[in-house]
Parts: sequence; C-alpha cells; structure tokens
Amino acid sequence: VKPIFFITGTDTGAGKTVLTALLAQYLRERGVQVAALKPLCSGGREDAQVLHAALAGALTLDEINPWHFRAPIAPLLAARREKKSLRLAAVRKHILAMRKRFAVTLVEGAGGLLSPLGEGFDSRGLMAALGAAPIIVAPNRLGVVNHLLLTLEALPEKMHERAMVVLMSPEKPDAATASNVELLGQFFPKKNIFMLPWLGRRFALTEALNKTSIKRTLSALLPGSEIQATR
Ligand SMILES: Nc1ncnc2c1ncn2[C@@H]1O[C@H](COP(=O)(O)OP(=O)(O)OP(=O)(O)O)[C@@H](O)[C@H]1O
Ligand SMILES: [Mg+2]
Repeated sequence: VKPIFFITGTDTGAGKTVLTALLAQYLRERGVQVAALKPLCSGGREDAQVLHAALAGALTLDEINPWHFRAPIAPLLAARREKKSLRLAAVRKHILAMRKRFAVTLVEGAGGLLSPLGEGFDSRGLMAALGAAPIIVAPNRLGVVNHLLLTLEALPEKMHERAMVVLMSPEKPDAATASNVELLGQFFPKKNIFMLPWLGRRFALTEALNKTSIKRTLSALLPGSEIQATR
C-alpha cells in the first residue's frame, strides 16, 4: 500500500508546513512522486501556497487545498460562518484520489491533533480513516514534553506505535531546548524522535536541503524501505 504520512502538531504554528514542504522537496529531489496536501485551510491559503511551490506544479492549488474558509479560526467554525459543512468522508475521498497518482502522500492537518476540522472529526479521526502514519511536530522549548506526551497519549495504540516526533528548533533556544530529546526519550522510543534546526527568518527549501544533516533527518523520518519500494 502506498504510504500516507499525516503531519500534525502539538499546536498551531508548530512548524507543520515547514516540515511538510521540506519532506516534499526532499522526496521530489530524490525522484519520488510525492503529493503534499493541506485539505483544509482557514484564514488564508498560505500553507497550500508553500506546498504548491515545493511540489513545483505536480498539483494545482485547488488539488492541494480543496476547502478554504475566510475566518482565521478552527475550520469547523470558519466553515459554519459561511453556512458550509464538511464531512470526513469527503476529505478522505479527495486524499485517496490524490494518492492514486503518487508514490507517497503527505497530508498537513490544521492546528493540533484534536483541533476540530469538520462536522464530527479532527486530525486524529482523519488520520485513522486514512490509515496514515502520524508525524507530530512540536516547538523545542520548555513545556513541549508535556504537550507531546498529551498528544501521544491521545493516539490509539496502533497509531502510537507508528508515531514519529519532530522537534523544531526555535530561533532562540531556552533552558530546556538542549535536553528535551533526552527527557522525552525516557517516555517514548528515542529512534522515533527527530530534531530539525532553526532555518532562519527567511529560508529557501533548496538551501536547507543542501545540508547533509537535514537530509539525513528527513530520510530517517520516512521509513526508507517503504519509500524505495514505491519509487
Ligand atoms: N525550523 C524552522 N526554521 C525557521 N523557521 C521556522 C522553523 N519552524 C517553523 N518556522 C517558522 O515558524 C512559523 C510557523 O511554522 P509553520 O507555518 O510551519 O507552522 P504550522 O504548524 O504549519 O502552523 P499552522 O497551524 O498555521 O498550519 C512560520 O513562520 C515558519 O516559517
Ligand atoms: Mg501550517
């Protein structure tokens, strides 16, 4: 089966789009056919535009992001303000249709794991309906271990086993940044914890991918055998 990776986070602004775009660009550079989707946007389509650029035309903006609502609040409420409602089955159907055309599919959620997306579902429900592997992005600062453990605990056992965590380095590290991996590693398998550096206020994906350490992290994050097999 062709893999779907679902990029969620401990919070909004955690770095989900940065990671999804890096993964998309990285896979594309390796010659892997990759789709990167942000099915729901609220308050602007910037995330979808970033993914659109990373895909270099492999998908249209509307294929990447079929549902977008004006209000910058949870998609569930933003949709209701426009007298619209969104069902899990419709989102699932779109993602599975896109998957048919690609070897690997990346899906960025909105907000965190339990942020309401549509009528009666959140990222956790969508992920389960897709059988996707969870990637949880979190800012590497004091307090993140609590946020990660809460998020991980909310995953059903099967998903918990497949979950991977990515700690995003902030521009300015705090007293906990350097020790968070170690601490989290006491509660969650260390082999499933990854770290990405701060890339600067304005960075180019291609430049970031010139760094061997970043490429190594991204390739370790995606189970190589699965990706290789689908090339
Ligand atoms: N490693 C990093 N290096 C440089 N900038 C980063 C890094 N991680 C995150 N950022 C910046 O932090 C901000 C939030 O990141 P991002 O948009 O990826 O979060 P998100 O989880 O996708 O948020 P949303 O909930 O809005 O989708 C962005 O301006 C992004 O460029
Ligand atoms: Mg985003």
